[in-house]
This record gives sequence, structure tokens and C-alpha cells, in this order.
Amino acid sequence: MTKSLRRRAALSDASDWIASSAPAATATPAARPRAGAARGKAEVFAELSEKIKACRACPLGSTRIQAVPGVGSVDARVMFIGEGPGFDEDHRGEPFVGRSGQLLDKIMESIGLSRASVYIANIVKCHPMVDPSDPEKRGNDRPPSPEEIAACRGWLDTQIRTIAPRFLVTLGAVPARVLLGDATPISKIRGVWRDYDPGGGAAPVRLLPTFHPAALLRNPDLKRDVWTDMKNLKAELARP
Ligand code: SF4
Ligand code: URA
Repeated sequence: MTKSLRRRAALSDASDWIASSAPAATATPAARPRAGAARGKAEVFAELSEKIKACRACPLGSTRIQAVPGVGSVDARVMFIGEGPGFDEDHRGEPFVGRSGQLLDKIMESIGLSRASVYIANIVKCHPMVDPSDPEKRGNDRPPSPEEIAACRGWLDTQIRTIAPRFLVTLGAVPARVLLGDATPISKIRGVWRDYDPGGGAAPVRLLPTFHPAALLRNPDLKRDVWTDMKNLKAELARP
């Protein structure tokens, strides 16, 4: 097969976020209803979100418009973990609602997942700003500092232990570095399953690092690797 034919074959089953001819995605069961336990868990989770909204454990708590605990199902089998809220998320109180969020929705849809069936959270729950005096300025984003990450880490750990997903997908360099304690460039570690220890005696969770959708917006060539990772995730989800 020539290189271009191989390329076309590789893309032929991709959804419209990667190629123009999109087949209908087959639904993947993503939420795992657990009779009896569900209500208690939902209540624990709602309380946790309220605590996050009231948190002032680091300076971001005083400059944010609103905290962004996360969105999705408490029974999710997959959690997607981003870096931190940006302008749109700070205004809406929901993760991944800006341009990268719209792309994340398409990426999830292409393997039959949705915002309602997975859980989406970030490493830090409040918007890290270059100029914290102006939350109304677009493009006023920066990565979270090590101190902010350390202050916020407990919230994510509790979210992971409460949801107890089967799989974690980290988006971009920051969540992979924080959760795995591995500073190897994301281009080298993406696509390779790892085990994550959520602490508290909980069972390890399989973790798949992939690129952040914002990186795909800057460099569409990376979409092919993310599509490979999503097919890999879909295959694992299909296992009993
Ligand atoms: Fe609290 Fe995290 Fe917000 Fe800091 S970023 S105030 S630790 S919720
Ligand atoms: N980027 C992130 O890492 N998280 C969001 O919630 C939005 C954009």
C-alpha cells in the first residue's frame, strides 16, 4: 500500500473532527448504573461540588468568577482530566465549554461517549489568570503553578475515588505530569496505558495520556494520534 493509501485507510473510519466522511458512531455504554449505591454517591458528589465552590485554599479562589468542579455522571466509567478552567469555563462554571471543549465533545462523540456519560474535571478548579485583576479579559490564561496544583489536588483525588472510574484519560502535558509524576514530553507518553493509584486503598485505575484538544486546534496533524487513542479507549470499554 502506498503511503497516501495507507493514510486514507487509516482515516476512513474517523469521525468528522478528523476527516470529512463520518460514519455514525456506535454507542459505547459509558455509564455504569449501580443499583442502590447511586443515590448515596450522587449526594456525596453534590456535597463535594458545593465544597469546591466554596474553596479558598489557594489565591485562585479569590480571583475566579466561579469554581468549576466538573461535569458528567457520578457513575462514569471514563474520566477526562484537563488542566484548568479558562475564560469560558470561569464564566459558565463548566469545564471544556470553549473552543477546545467543542472539539472534545466531537472527539468523545466519535466513540459514542458524551459529556453526560463520562465525567470531565480539571487538575485545578479555578481559572489561573496572567492578570488576576481582570477576569473579563480573554486570553488571560496561564498554566496553574505548582503551589496551586498542590492546594487543589485533594479535590480531584476525592472525585476520582468517589466516581471510581475504570479509565482516566489525561488531556495534555499538565494532567499527565501531575497524576503520573512523570515529566516526559506528552508526545512520548501519549497512547500508552499506565496504572494510576488514586490513594486511600482504592484499586489502581488505568490511565491513558493523550493530547489536549487545544493542541489539536493549533496543530491538526495531532488529530490522528488522538483518534488512535480514542479507538484504543473504545476497545477497552468494550471489554467486559
Ligand atoms: Fe480551592 Fe482549587 Fe480553587 Fe485553589 S484552585 S481555590 S485549591 S478549588
Ligand atoms: N482547557 C482545560 O484544560 N480545561 C478546561 O476546562 C478548558 C480548557
